[in-house]
Amino acid sequence: MRTQVAIIGAGPSGLLLGQLLSKHGIANIVLEQRSADYVLSRIRAGVIEQGAAELLDEAGVGSRMHRDGLTHDGIEISLGGQRHRIDFQALVGKSVIVYGQTEVTRDLMDGRLATGGQTLYETADVSLHQIEDGRARVRYRSSGGAEQEIECDFVAGCDGFHGVSRKSIPEHVLKFYERVYPFGWLGILVDQPPVSAELVYASHERGFALCSMRSRTRSRLYLQCRLDDHIEDWPDGRFYEELRRRLDDQAANALGSGASIEKSIAPLRSFVAEPMRYGNLFLAGDAAHIVPPTGAKGLNLAASDVYYLWQALMEYYREQSTAGLDAYSTRALQRVWKAERFSWWMTSILHYFPESSGFDQKMQRAELEYLLSSRAAMTALAENYVGLSYK
Ligand code: APR
Ligand code: PHB
Repeated sequence: MRTQVAIIGAGPSGLLLGQLLSKHGIANIVLEQRSADYVLSRIRAGVIEQGAAELLDEAGVGSRMHRDGLTHDGIEISLGGQRHRIDFQALVGKSVIVYGQTEVTRDLMDGRLATGGQTLYETADVSLHQIEDGRARVRYRSSGGAEQEIECDFVAGCDGFHGVSRKSIPEHVLKFYERVYPFGWLGILVDQPPVSAELVYASHERGFALCSMRSRTRSRLYLQCRLDDHIEDWPDGRFYEELRRRLDDQAANALGSGASIEKSIAPLRSFVAEPMRYGNLFLAGDAAHIVPPTGAKGLNLAASDVYYLWQALMEYYREQSTAGLDAYSTRALQRVWKAERFSWWMTSILHYFPESSGFDQKMQRAELEYLLSSRAAMTALAENYVGLSYK
């Protein structure tokens, strides 16, 4: 087979890039190791920045998000039994849309079906070849077991943190930056109304908690937990009892105790691989970087990477210019590092760090007290949370 862009991975990055390329007449094939149902079964974050929402609209898949998504003009921070609102509209004149990543992925899959884009699910043993000499090839085994090869101009590595793309770049070319946090997030999905109209981020000496949502009838609740915790250690009853202890009274009293329909523990890490390009291979999304979920930046960073790569590929095929492609890594990384900083900062001020000294804890409390008493500090949080400019 031959195409212009071979996309590895049918998560949000790969599907959004594929949709944008197809819409603008650039041929592409998406290869995904899992089934579509498996991809949809993953529970991920649910906050969409305005820039990402505009990109989904540009890809022609934003209508359900605007219909079912919840526009949020702020978040609340729970500290010392008090609730403090960060008013995005008042501070920076912007909002976010609360809409599950699963739904974004579903909309992208439906959009790709509608435009006839080719997605090869359950492909195995994907390998990249000749990515540095302009005659890139992707080899794989089809779901039927046959060995296949795709010739392409470019490969988009949208295959996440554990994918094959980043690992196809010679070690001596890549530089890694990483921080692994000494705790995880235990999350449940439950069909009960959210504790509040907006997201509640709670800082408590017992640990961080977050009350989020997927709709007005479905909540997404998180507890900071130990790295050696297992979901078997956390029956629903214990989860709710601990969550109530970390929340202010208003939120605790509003919390239901419905049976969880999903429960999982995720580790937290900050990770960046540089550069995000090698020859004709371009990395986008989790393949190149990971953020702790505290700032809800994972999906939104994937969107800005895809925007830069889509623009660069359009410029190449329309104007035979490689300027955008040559600038892609530097341009994407500028926004990546700002989001990494914000996600690290939000994680650092809201979580309990087991090894922290008395001084560290005083600094953390002072950071929070300053944040909640300063319009300038809240404005800084707000402009990062709603999403920094793509320019
Ligand atoms: N071959 C083909 N597909 C692969 C391979 C491979 N070798 N390795 C991984 N994949 C697929 C995975 O099965 C997954 O469906 O690539 C896809 C990568 O999707 P994500 O991990 O969701 O990454 P991305 O599309 O960049 O989206 C980032 O997803 O994980 C969240 O928090 C993250 O919100 C962020 C978003
Ligand atoms: C979620 O709804 O899953 C969510 C929301 C905000 C975050 C992290 C996760 O910061």
